[in-house]
Amino acid sequence: MIVSLILLALFVSFGLIAFRGAPYVPTLARSVEKIFNLYTFKKGERIVDLGCGDGRVLRAASRRGVLTTGYELNPFLWVVCKLIPPRRNVDVRFADYLRVNLPTDTKVVFVFSAKPFMHRIDRKMQTEASRLNRELLLISYGERLPAREPLQSSDGFSVYNYKP
Ligand SMILES: C[S@@+](CC[C@H](N)C(=O)[O-])C[C@H]1O[C@@H](n2cnc3c(N)ncnc32)[C@H](O)[C@@H]1O
Repeated sequence: MIVSLILLALFVSFGLIAFRGAPYVPTLARSVEKIFNLYTFKKGERIVDLGCGDGRVLRAASRRGVLTTGYELNPFLWVVCKLIPPRRNVDVRFADYLRVNLPTDTKVVFVFSAKPFMHRIDRKMQTEASRLNRELLLISYGERLPAREPLQSSDGFSVYNYKP
């Protein structure tokens, strides 16, 4: 009975998320490091990971002194994020990233998503750049945006600029 409940919870958490965004596939550790070659963070700037998985991008950023926020809808992964050190400056919220307001000091938004969700992410980014009245960079791993030209692309990453 308990095993069935655990299996059901895992199915709901890992399976049904595919209707809201990409399922969990982590960015490889060596690729995570490349994110920080794409943009040099200044003091007080924040990176946000939309769907932060186990939090590896946030921890890599935190080790470099960058402020971080991640949103994760899978409760198991949210707990994992909360447990793995370093936790200092790693702010992880159990939330649907399409329904949140990004922090006011956000500079870079990272996302590793799938083709069917890229339109929604593009709209969300434009809405947030206008709401915050500041330029934002989107770093997308894997998928490109269908209707926007990247500033640069390399090693599977594409970087986009959003103006207010
Ligand atoms: C492909 S994984 C990427 C994980 C992590 N960003 C990385 O690069 O290692 C996508 C993650 O987004 C989460 N996710 C999908 N849709 C979401 C949504 N609407 N709100 C919050 N998290 C979401 C999934 O649970 C999964 O952990």
